[in-house]
Amino acid sequence: MKPAPKTFHVKSFGCQMNVYDGERMAELMTAQGLTATTDAGEADLVVLNTCHIREKATDKVYSDIGRLRKGGRSPMIAVAGCVAQAEGEEIVARAKVDVVVGPQAYHNLPELVAKAAAGAPALDTDMPLASKFGHLPARRRVGPSAFLTVQEGCDKFCTYCVVPYTRGAEISRPFDAIVDEARALVDAGAREITLLGQNVNAWSDDARGLHDLIRAIDRIPGLARIRYTTSHPNDMTQGLIDAHGDVESLMPYLHLPVQSGSTGILKAMNRSHGRDDYLRLLDRVRAVRPDIALSGDFIVGFPGESERDFADTLSLVDAVGYAQAFSFKYSPRPGTPAATMADEVPAAIMDERLQRLQAALGRDQQAFNRASVGRTCTILVERPGKLPGQMLGKSPWLQSVHVIGPHAIGDLVEVELTAAGPVSLTGVARVSQAA
Ligand code: SAH
Ligand code: SF4
Ligand code: F3S
Repeated sequence: MKPAPKTFHVKSFGCQMNVYDGERMAELMTAQGLTATTDAGEADLVVLNTCHIREKATDKVYSDIGRLRKGGRSPMIAVAGCVAQAEGEEIVARAKVDVVVGPQAYHNLPELVAKAAAGAPALDTDMPLASKFGHLPARRRVGPSAFLTVQEGCDKFCTYCVVPYTRGAEISRPFDAIVDEARALVDAGAREITLLGQNVNAWSDDARGLHDLIRAIDRIPGLARIRYTTSHPNDMTQGLIDAHGDVESLMPYLHLPVQSGSTGILKAMNRSHGRDDYLRLLDRVRAVRPDIALSGDFIVGFPGESERDFADTLSLVDAVGYAQAFSFKYSPRPGTPAATMADEVPAAIMDERLQRLQAALGRDQQAFNRASVGRTCTILVERPGKLPGQMLGKSPWLQSVHVIGPHAIGDLVEVELTAAGPVSLTGVARVSQAA
């Protein structure tokens, strides 16, 4: 038995949806009268909001649990997120944590914490039909850029990926509930909303698709910017592409993972699109929004990936010219079809390919940033910079921009981009002309 906690700390390890879940769990515990601490080492209850996507991410949970118990401390530990879903009771057996709660059940966290305080086992990894969203407190205070989950789960079953198992089948939240939450976020201080989903562009409600939702949210007074992530190439409809052409608040940025440039590897990954389908799709997006910044995810060293397959990935990167991208070494995940595939790529080759790919992606990111110098754009100020008087904002193309001046968090400032570093730019605020 442990005393009922008075303070809590939530630590999120995963994707943006995992971060969103962490925010909602924190709001839930605050509504229960608990106080948040900035330091996990000081909290009575620590919620580890975990990620299962790669082996390293999963291992982190166990090392964190060890760290929390150093020096004889024994806070109540709740494991939430995708490792909770995937490993369930195993975590209790292995690490003796107090609570295990899956991503579709965290609205029950207060109840589980009370159970654990009473000494009872507290595990909930159900995927109930009724959604957790109806049980969460309203959004009250958020930063200028807020996340909003609109779709969860995945039916795509890429052969390397755990998400369909940890998050369940694709489910879309209802249109009205999302628009209401978007309004609440704007009232709570958001100027920008990023719509989230494992396959956000698969969102639908009756005949409505993501572009209809974007157009509805675009009409909310006070909201300046809309983004969405992550998209799957096969769900990129013409309606959504068209929205990039005429919805002004929809930012010119598209995260569209491709994973590999080799059609053979894409097939083995069960991505259900080839290299050329992807490139043609990007042409269609660029036709309506020529300045769009493109981003992607890549996996190197998928089983059977030959030097020639990898060369296809490098040539795809050259052809696209990504503004930003994420790249990972393939990590075999228990229970996925790829985990038992033959022709594993040796670790040394994976390392070397990842380095080459990251060099190419880094080069393209710098080129994109350099090409932005001289442009005038609006930045959304999100936080103070390191230097006195300096603030940090985001350009429409999701670049970090430093600006000096009396700007407040949440301001939209028109700047001229004057210099580009490897990961950020400098902007100079334009003085508005007197009428
Ligand atoms: N639903 C999204 C992203 C899901 S996970 C999509 O399909 O694009 C985010 C990224 O993690 C993936 O795009 C992929 O690049 C990477 N990833 C997923 N499983 C992985 C694995 N087993 N090993 C290495 N990287 C993986
Ligand atoms: Fe995983 Fe593929 Fe679904 Fe993305 S689309 S979450 S990579 S199974
Ligand atoms: Fe990780 Fe789960 Fe997100 S596995 S990437 S936290 S959906």
